[in-house]
Amino acid sequence: MYLSTGRKAPSRKGSMHDVPKDLMKQIKELEQQFTIDTAKLHEIVAKFQFELEKGLSKEGGSIPMNPTWVIGYPSGEETGTFLALDLGGTNLRVCEVELPEEKGQYDIYQSKYRLPEELKTGTGEQLFDYIAECVKQFLIANHEGQDISELSDLHLGFTFSYPCHQDAIDHGVLQRWTKGFDIEGVEGHDVVPMFEEALERKGVPIKITALVNDTTGTLIASAYTDPTTKIGCIFGTGCNAAYMEEVGCVPKLDHMNLDPNLQIAINCEWGAFDNERVVLPRTAYDNHIDKTSPRPGQQIFEKMVAGLYLGEIFRLVLVDLHANPEVSIFEGQDISALREEYSLDASFLADIESDPWENLMETQVLFEKTLKIDTTEPERKLIRRLAELIGTRAARLSACGVAAICKMKGFTSCHVGADGSVFNKYPNFQKRGAQALREIFGWDKSVRKDPIQIVPAEDGSGVGAALIAALTMKRINAGIHAGVNVKRKNSLIPPA
Ligand code: GLC
Repeated sequence: MYLSTGRKAPSRKGSMHDVPKDLMKQIKELEQQFTIDTAKLHEIVAKFQFELEKGLSKEGGSIPMNPTWVIGYPSGEETGTFLALDLGGTNLRVCEVELPEEKGQYDIYQSKYRLPEELKTGTGEQLFDYIAECVKQFLIANHEGQDISELSDLHLGFTFSYPCHQDAIDHGVLQRWTKGFDIEGVEGHDVVPMFEEALERKGVPIKITALVNDTTGTLIASAYTDPTTKIGCIFGTGCNAAYMEEVGCVPKLDHMNLDPNLQIAINCEWGAFDNERVVLPRTAYDNHIDKTSPRPGQQIFEKMVAGLYLGEIFRLVLVDLHANPEVSIFEGQDISALREEYSLDASFLADIESDPWENLMETQVLFEKTLKIDTTEPERKLIRRLAELIGTRAARLSACGVAAICKMKGFTSCHVGADGSVFNKYPNFQKRGAQALREIFGWDKSVRKDPIQIVPAEDGSGVGAALIAALTMKRINAGIHAGVNVKRKNSLIPPA
């Protein structure tokens, strides 16, 4: 027993010699379904690149490639105090960010508020009233002795990480909810006035300066401290990326007659890749997830790689194996807890993958505690292999998106700033993604340092959103009004 010796747990390679034939056969089948070999990686990257380009064209494609009106990188010399607000999947975060005189530095004060589950399926008004109330509470706590009505000079960057059509930085029509949200009366509407009205109802006078996607925030925050950053990615509940594009390479902006050399951040919304279902090797489990989701046929790529879905894919496979008469798994056990939809999240898989013991005893405890299922050692070996397959597939597919942007833009060496729970917490996700990039770009052992590296990002929805608010105000103060909404009730542009 390793436990009693107190020495470091060994890394578990594991052997399959004691796994019965029926389980072994299933493992082989699962390997076939979930493995993406090098040839398939190439095929996916080529199609991904084609679809990214199509998204920039006048006709458009299924990947939205939304221009964000974040124009150019920060210089590192942005200054001032800004608010940032992040509507994440489980929390709401309010930050006050100070950008001091020193280049590339920042100070941040923040509070987190839980986002009640029922708000995710309620009405838009309920959601925005709740957010406005949190902002109010934050300001009361952080500006003691000051009247809230005196804070009207504060500008806020609102990180709202859902696909929005933006024809100005302070304007964004929600195209559709993603990541399991399903709130009535918001799709097809500009979220900025909705939020502003809620702030007004609560008597909070601050200005919404920029609507920011988490990927754009990540790109800008990372480029602020590391100018080699060319892409910002989120691998979390959802999955997406942003990068800086020349206006001249965006045919769908031609009608605006902008300077073709202007740099504009593009929020790809690449979760929608392969909505036509032609290239991704989807399993019956992926199909089931899509069909039973609030938005079938959408976010097809995201549904294979993002944290929201990894636990569910895993759960579906196990329920299916249990029902299969040719397989004996969890014999005679009550699997009702396992039958509950979306009951396992990506951290469950992460815990299985982190189990260091040869006999996977931590996995045994996990199954017993969470699902009331007593597992045999061969069953746990299948469970472990399944988690590896799902986690590896997610990492390799994610790398395809990064590679496609690099190929499209001709980036041969750069940093990709990445954030999100899967990137930060899922074991081996980063290593597996790096391996896939090596296969895609053909870097062999003679290449000592990978030229394109996916690295942990700076805080995009805090510092990034604040920087974007700062960049926007700098532009307005310089009289450059392109990409700012003049028609809005509380327009940032003072009347002439
Ligand atoms: C979903 C959202 C996208 C966001 C991503 C990561 O794909 O549609 O806007 O960037 O999740 O949070």
